[in-house]
Amino acid sequence: MVHHGSLFLRSFIASLVMIMPVIATPTPASPAYQLQQLGSSSSSDDWQKYIRSPSAQIIYPQSIVVNGTLGNVTNADGLLTGHGKTILTRPAPENGSAADSSIPTIIVDFGQNIPGYLSIKFGGAYNSTPGLPGIRLAFSESIQYGYLTDVSDFSRSDNIAVKSYPYTWTDIHGCEYSDQVCADGIHGFRYVKIYMDALDSDAPYTSNYGAVSIDSLSLNISAFLGTPDTFTGWFESSDDKLNQWWYDGVYTNDLCTDVLDANSTDPRNAASPGMLGKLVILDGAKRDRLPYIGDLAVSARTSYLSHDVPEATRNVLADLANHQRADGWIPPASINNYTLLLLDYPLWWIACTYDLFMYTGDTDFVVTYYQTMINVLDDFYPAITDNTTQMITKGIGSSGSYGDYAFINRSGPITYLNALYVIALDNAASMATYLGHRQDAARWSARSMVVAAAINTYNFDSSVGAFFDGSCGDTYCATHAQDGNSLSILSGAANVTRATSALAYLAAHNARFYGNAFYDNDVVAGGYSQRVYTFISYFEIEARFKTGLADSALEEIRRLYGWMEANDPGITMWEGIGQGGQPYEGAFTSLAHGWGTGVVPALTNYVLGVMPQGPGFSIFSVKPIPGDVQWAKGVVPTPHGPIYVAWDSNQAVGLFYLSVSAPTGTKGAVSVPVGNSSVPVYVDNELAWENNGHAYAATYENYADAGYVSVQVEGGDHVITAGYSI
Ligand SMILES: *[C@@H]1O[C@H](CO)[C@@H](O)[C@H](O)[C@H]1NC(C)=O
Ligand SMILES: *[C@@H]1O[C@H](CO)[C@@H](O)[C@H](O)[C@H]1NC(C)=O
Ligand SMILES: *[C@@H]1O[C@H](CO)[C@@H](O)[C@H](O)[C@H]1NC(C)=O
Ligand SMILES: *[C@@H]1O[C@H](CO)[C@@H](O)[C@H](O)[C@H]1NC(C)=O
Ligand SMILES: *[C@@H]1O[C@H](CO)[C@@H](O)[C@H](O)[C@H]1NC(C)=O
Ligand SMILES: *[C@@H]1O[C@H](CO)[C@@H](O)[C@H](O)[C@H]1NC(C)=O
Ligand SMILES: *[C@@H]1O[C@H](CO)[C@@H](O)[C@H](O)[C@H]1NC(C)=O
Ligand SMILES: *[C@@H]1O[C@H](CO)[C@@H](O)[C@H](O)[C@H]1NC(C)=O
Ligand SMILES: *[C@@H]1O[C@H](CO)[C@@H](O)[C@H](O)[C@H]1NC(C)=O
Ligand SMILES: *[C@@H]1O[C@H](CO)[C@@H](O)[C@H](O)[C@H]1NC(C)=O
Repeated sequence: MVHHGSLFLRSFIASLVMIMPVIATPTPASPAYQLQQLGSSSSSDDWQKYIRSPSAQIIYPQSIVVNGTLGNVTNADGLLTGHGKTILTRPAPENGSAADSSIPTIIVDFGQNIPGYLSIKFGGAYNSTPGLPGIRLAFSESIQYGYLTDVSDFSRSDNIAVKSYPYTWTDIHGCEYSDQVCADGIHGFRYVKIYMDALDSDAPYTSNYGAVSIDSLSLNISAFLGTPDTFTGWFESSDDKLNQWWYDGVYTNDLCTDVLDANSTDPRNAASPGMLGKLVILDGAKRDRLPYIGDLAVSARTSYLSHDVPEATRNVLADLANHQRADGWIPPASINNYTLLLLDYPLWWIACTYDLFMYTGDTDFVVTYYQTMINVLDDFYPAITDNTTQMITKGIGSSGSYGDYAFINRSGPITYLNALYVIALDNAASMATYLGHRQDAARWSARSMVVAAAINTYNFDSSVGAFFDGSCGDTYCATHAQDGNSLSILSGAANVTRATSALAYLAAHNARFYGNAFYDNDVVAGGYSQRVYTFISYFEIEARFKTGLADSALEEIRRLYGWMEANDPGITMWEGIGQGGQPYEGAFTSLAHGWGTGVVPALTNYVLGVMPQGPGFSIFSVKPIPGDVQWAKGVVPTPHGPIYVAWDSNQAVGLFYLSVSAPTGTKGAVSVPVGNSSVPVYVDNELAWENNGHAYAATYENYADAGYVSVQVEGGDHVITAGYSI
């Protein structure tokens, strides 16, 4: 891996220095003066204080869990560096069967969720009979599962036969004796329970008594170590919580960015030869530790916007495309020899390929896998399309047996699948256009319009003002899902009237204190109205920004991410949240899942406001949607160089300041919010708009309850102001 972080930072600072002096300073009392303090008022690397990554690859325990110590333990604090030895002692069984409370136990807290290989430095052991004292380990991301007996959460347990002499044991997958006394290898966890015990099946090598001395513990982190010098993009705003969640999201995603290793994936048959030894984005730090296409729709964006490792995404998309089935279907993951049947992930493959193209400019990938895309769109989905409605209809052919990102048992013309089809068709048409395949582009665009119209004709429930989910027999089920409503808006199928109505419906019926549920009720399955998927919630948050409802987008972000931040393990973002705000699948739930990091692209794309509009940001757009955020600044990495944006708002008095520094050769539309079309807008002090366009091809559009003036600029440094000149 090659990182350009520090080089890049220096050039960014240099570019800032170039921008600032050209701005004339208004009188300190004026609102305009206050707006312009942005880039200069705080140091340019202030954002680094939010970074969660440890600074080194080897880390040590932070504390001993207060009520986690049981049995005869001498100096539990000895497991903390520099606190002496810890001794666990358990009497021999001949003195009667030991009660559970006599099992010497210590629970160690590493302070934050993180995957790696644990090492224990043993000072020696004592046992009076043949066999060695057994130490067992149980790992957990959350302390509520940390007290369980042997496996804590989903992690399998580790077993150690402690030698009589001092040595360091490291958690490498494998067994000490043939198939006995086995360790699991990597674990994603925050807490580890260490206790003296032995499996019957490990006899005669271990026994559950004796004395063991431990000098120290350490963890060798196995994940992308996101230290400050590795950041190629960053974000900062007037809202400290939003800032912290942006970096928490990056941290979570970094924990999922690792080299795929046969011993560290989900235990199912998933060690894909095509990805082994390569950098990938896994779904979760604890499990499945396996790459999935759909998850990348969120996690790859987080990755592109924070670190220069596009290969982590590309390696996954390439391997799964290489396993495309003859009928055009693409497996969602390597699990069970590429046979897990999901109906939506081939469409996410197209959306993710489009993102790879737009964020990193990887034309070679699109050219190489162009036929893969044709097979998906022209073979697989037409074969499960109802040719009367033109909608993908689950139930045609063998599609009824397929699952989706949440294994939802639903059927018929599912809104989510068809809206995602519209997105994939449009993305494919855009890629086809760039590659000069005009007929493909025209065919896919035309089909996209037909499917979008069908969604509106057949799937809208006028009685409540939201889209139906799918069918129950001959009629639509009386249920409305977050996924279909959100993607209908993002795909553009829903016009602004329907988008506003559908989002109001979700706010009224799906909002829970820990996020927005993926269903409004339990018609499809019990508990669905209480379950929040961080994955699909991102698309609702996006839909809110896209519809101009910044306040409700930020409100949903604060509810969802505020809940995860406030609950164990803290910092990392969960796979899903269930009834009462608990991990939705109990101990099995991954509490560090890349697909839960949508707060990162949401804030960069909509609050900072930077989006790619052409391959590799060759064309970009900057359109801040501030809500109650007062200012934001940050960098978006592109293959042409960084785009730096800083904006400050005093919309109460109708003023907005935005500076953008984009690489030479790129161009884009910069949009600033204005109260009405008579507000003047200046580009580098030249009047661009006032009641009508004067320069920079300025245009005005109504957008929710605000208006925006857009100007077209070339790469270079520009200052755009609304309501005042500088
Ligand atoms: C330890 O304390 C935590 C919270 O303080 C509590 O939830 C848990 O039940 C306690 N566990 C034991 C084994 O006492
Ligand atoms: C605990 O173990 C130590 C030896 O490691 C021993 O000296 C002590 O007596 C034991 N305490 C109890 C209460 O059994
Ligand atoms: C078992 O109990 C006897 C009598 O109380 C005691 O002398 C002996 O030390 C105990 N053994 C162990 C291993 O604790
Ligand atoms: C994988 O596990 C096997 C035993 O199952 C072990 O021999 C090998 O060293 C492990 N490889 C790694 C990279 O840990
Ligand atoms: C940590 O793990 C890495 C990768 O497995 C290895 O190269 C490195 O030597 C380990 N560091 C220590 C101190 O064991
Ligand atoms: C995986 O599937 C392929 C294609 O069906 C087959 O050739 C191969 O033998 C399978 N591998 C395993 C390990 O089952
Ligand atoms: C719908 O029409 C397309 C194009 O003619 C065809 O490929 C597909 O098989 C048809 N779908 C079904 C379910 O018959
Ligand atoms: C799926 O739902 C149908 C009814 O729509 C029901 O008959 C079937 O048993 C359900 N399948 C599962 C696996 O729950
Ligand atoms: C949105 O679509 C609906 C249904 O086609 C239509 O009634 C409504 O007028 C449209 N709204 C706008 C603003 O176009
Ligand atoms: C337009 O907005 C400006 C700045 O807020 C305000 O001064 C002006 O009165 C508004 N004009 C109209 C027609 O609303």
